[in-house]
Amino acid sequence: MSTQNQKVAIITGASQGIGAALVEGYRKLGHAVVATSRTIAPADDADVLTVQGDIADPETAERVVAAAVKRFGRIDTVVNNAGVFVAKPFTEYTAEDYATVTGINVAGVFHLTQRAVPHLLAQGGGHIVNVTTSLVDSADSRVPSVLASLTKGGLQSATKSLAVEYATRGIRVNAVSPGTVKTPMHAEETHEFLAALHPVGRMGEVSDIVDAVLFLETAPFVTGEILHVDGGMSAGH
Ligand SMILES: NC(=O)c1ccc[n+]([C@@H]2O[C@H](COP(=O)([O-])OP(=O)(O)OC[C@H]3O[C@@H](n4cnc5c(N)ncnc54)[C@H](OP(=O)(O)O)[C@@H]3O)[C@@H](O)[C@H]2O)c1
Repeated sequence: MSTQNQKVAIITGASQGIGAALVEGYRKLGHAVVATSRTIAPADDADVLTVQGDIADPETAERVVAAAVKRFGRIDTVVNNAGVFVAKPFTEYTAEDYATVTGINVAGVFHLTQRAVPHLLAQGGGHIVNVTTSLVDSADSRVPSVLASLTKGGLQSATKSLAVEYATRGIRVNAVSPGTVKTPMHAEETHEFLAALHPVGRMGEVSDIVDAVLFLETAPFVTGEILHVDGGMSAGH
């Protein structure tokens, strides 16, 4: 059961894929977890509180932060993992695509992080991790996806900006920038094509990303870092 000394992590996009594995990873580290997504189910674990909601809606951020403080009394870490990926040629993006991708990938991060920061400061510091995408640093003509770069690129810059803004107040801010990872985001039949996009010739595993986030969580001298976990994608082709 949680105690006032137990650290508390909020993890978004926690119903499946990388987010669900991050919940397990932070529990193994000893944190209590507030796990959120639109469809997330209640957890058996008393130290995992689930909160349903659309992360693009500021009201979800309000409820997630309030629930964390009410149940566990503190917030130490926010992992902004919820995200969507819509790949299509630039002129085929619709207004709805734009609203969806910016709503989840940008507004969702803004609303939750802004509401959580005062609680991190109240603990004397904390950690924010943003999950971006390696395509930001290595655009690939085989995967046209400017909305991913527009949103996650902003997130990478904001990671550095926030890291510097809060450096003297104990909050570290980092990002993990994945290559293509085997999650429900990608249909099985696309895996061979996606594997070939990486210099190492394979897709990432969910555990590759979780390990990177947990490294950052336990690395007190690391802040403002964009940690590429991408099988060499950002290095070149
Ligand atoms: N998989 C990859 O190849 C890859 C590559 C680079 C970066 N990433 C990034 O890694 C992160 C996790 O990706 P993933 O592959 O694990 O994704 P995923 O399997 O598609 O899961 C996405 C998660 O986000 C939640 N979500 C989606 N829309 C939401 C909304 N409007 N409000 C709240 N939650 C929402 C989903 O839950 P609900 O449906 O319950 O809401 C789900 O838990 C994302 O930020 C993604 O951009 C992934």
